[in-house]
Amino acid sequence: MTAPTGARLRPMRWWDIEPVLALERALFPGDAWTPGMFWSELAGCAGPVPTRRYTVAEAADGSIAGWTGLAFAGESADVQTIAVAPRRQAGGLGTRLLRDLLTAAAHLGCREVFLEVRTDNDRARRLYERHGFEPMGVRRGYYQPGNHDALVMRRDHTRPLPPPPGRQTPGAGGTPAPSAPTDREA
Ligand SMILES: CC(C)(COP(=O)(O)OP(=O)(O)OC[C@H]1O[C@@H](n2cnc3c(N)ncnc32)[C@H](O)[C@@H]1OP(=O)(O)O)[C@@H](O)C(=O)NCCC(=O)NCCS
Repeated sequence: MTAPTGARLRPMRWWDIEPVLALERALFPGDAWTPGMFWSELAGCAGPVPTRRYTVAEAADGSIAGWTGLAFAGESADVQTIAVAPRRQAGGLGTRLLRDLLTAAAHLGCREVFLEVRTDNDRARRLYERHGFEPMGVRRGYYQPGNHDALVMRRDHTRPLPPPPGRQTPGAGGTPAPSAPTDREA
């Protein structure tokens, strides 16, 4: 359902785990992450050498509207997760979250970004393709239970992001899009 995208993006904290888990179970029935997985991922956001970056989108009413997670090492990064609360989907928030994550990866010096997506997850695949991810191969039975296949995708992160939706492209009479847009237009 379309919903306003005026959510505030901020780092995920431990107190977000519980509301995120409730949405996680609704969005990923059968293979939802456990509390321990989120605690472990958030531990990677801290310390002298962080390896993770987790962000939540907080709606005006304080509820969690969505979240993303990035794992990074050297010049390579992986999209660990991205999700938008069911009632907030199709309003542009997934795009905002992905662009925020990809912008962060660029600032971290990553030159390639990988992800896995269920082969039957058309909406997520379209989102990734729009942002320059290309298919690399299929991992058979990657998602258990259910034995669903994963499509592995890679983004050449030396390439700029496409202009954000709603913004005119250069040459179309509008303002040229920045090569590394910041997407925190909350
Ligand atoms: C995949 C997911 C994160 C996308 O989030 P989203 O907020 O729905 O994404 P967006 O709104 O930015 O874009 C989705 C669609 O809405 C459209 N859209 C974007 N802004 C819009 C707006 N203001 N009004 C209407 N539609 C809009 C987009 O064009 C896009 O269309 P498409 O699906 O036909 O390509 C979300 O569907 C989700 O959480 N799915 C379940 C979890 C999941 O599968 N995660 C990915 C695991 S790999």
